[in-house]
Amino acid sequence: MNDRAVNASHVLDRVLVLEMVRVTEAAAVAASKLVGRGDEKAADAAAVQAMRTAFDQLYIDGTVVIGEGERDEAPMLFIGEKVGGAPGRGPKIDIALDPLEGTTITAKAGPNALAVLAAAEEGCLLNAPDVYMEKLAVGPGYPEGVIDLAKSPTENVRAVAAAKGCKPDEINVCVLERPRHAELIAELRALGCGVVLIGDGDVAGVIAVTDPDTTIDLYMGSGGAPEGVLAAAALRCVGGQFNGRLIFRNADEKARARKWGIEDLDRIYRLDDLAKGDCIFAATGVTDGSLLRGVKYLRGGRMTTDSVVMRASSGTVRWVKGEHRSH
Ligand code: FBP
Repeated sequence: MNDRAVNASHVLDRVLVLEMVRVTEAAAVAASKLVGRGDEKAADAAAVQAMRTAFDQLYIDGTVVIGEGERDEAPMLFIGEKVGGAPGRGPKIDIALDPLEGTTITAKAGPNALAVLAAAEEGCLLNAPDVYMEKLAVGPGYPEGVIDLAKSPTENVRAVAAAKGCKPDEINVCVLERPRHAELIAELRALGCGVVLIGDGDVAGVIAVTDPDTTIDLYMGSGGAPEGVLAAAALRCVGGQFNGRLIFRNADEKARARKWGIEDLDRIYRLDDLAKGDCIFAATGVTDGSLLRGVKYLRGGRMTTDSVVMRASSGTVRWVKGEHRSH
């Protein structure tokens, strides 16, 4: 690969935006071969391997800041791993990734499995530990501060309904279907809200608030903190508001957060705290979902991929349909 001049003020080279789609495409295609095969680990491993290889084709000096776990937990794409084909030469980029967001979905051939990544200039993505995060998100077009994680779900629904000019019972809220959300779901149903329950995949769940076609107004509930940073990067590009607060279940999780430099354990993070500066978000569908179609195998040894790539500084959202040889 040839060296080329990199303008320091444009670290996230525009060319790189489209290149990122190759990376999520590669992971999605690899995982798609295991859709419905009942093997979460194999699907995840295939996506990880393909994403790792695809990164090496990029002219970047990348560092994984959110990845497959800590160094001793993951063989590849672990936090701190260097990726990219231009170490020491290319633009220094921090990367948050989830080669397969929705391992169970993929194993069961359910909806909304994605290969996903976010890239930003060095130091611009929160190095979130792999703990839970309480999440609250609303789409674009609302006054800043309309949602607030410090307030109750009822207060947030009422505030969004008032801003939308409708009644609380006309608000739809997406929530992960988990026993831990029983109280939240009961509170929302008592208000008359439509509760859209998803089995897995809260990156797609959060992003759904930005798309009027989904009719989802709000996202609420807890899920993975890394997925929270990925979703926040997407909302930085397309608009919307997000609040996140890390949840610590024990002393070990608190210690891990401190290791990543997090001192205020009760802090409510907003979009800019999770993904600041310019950032890129890219995703390719593994299975059909609200955001993207999954990988489709056609006759004649061809296949199609459906991806989206967005950039915060320009606000551009590109939908990329790919057709590829399938072997
Ligand atoms: P995986 O791809 O790791 O299976 O994550 C799927 C997911 O549903 C995420 O979207 C979500 O943030 C997290 O799991 C929720 O965790 P839990 O299943 O423990 O409630």
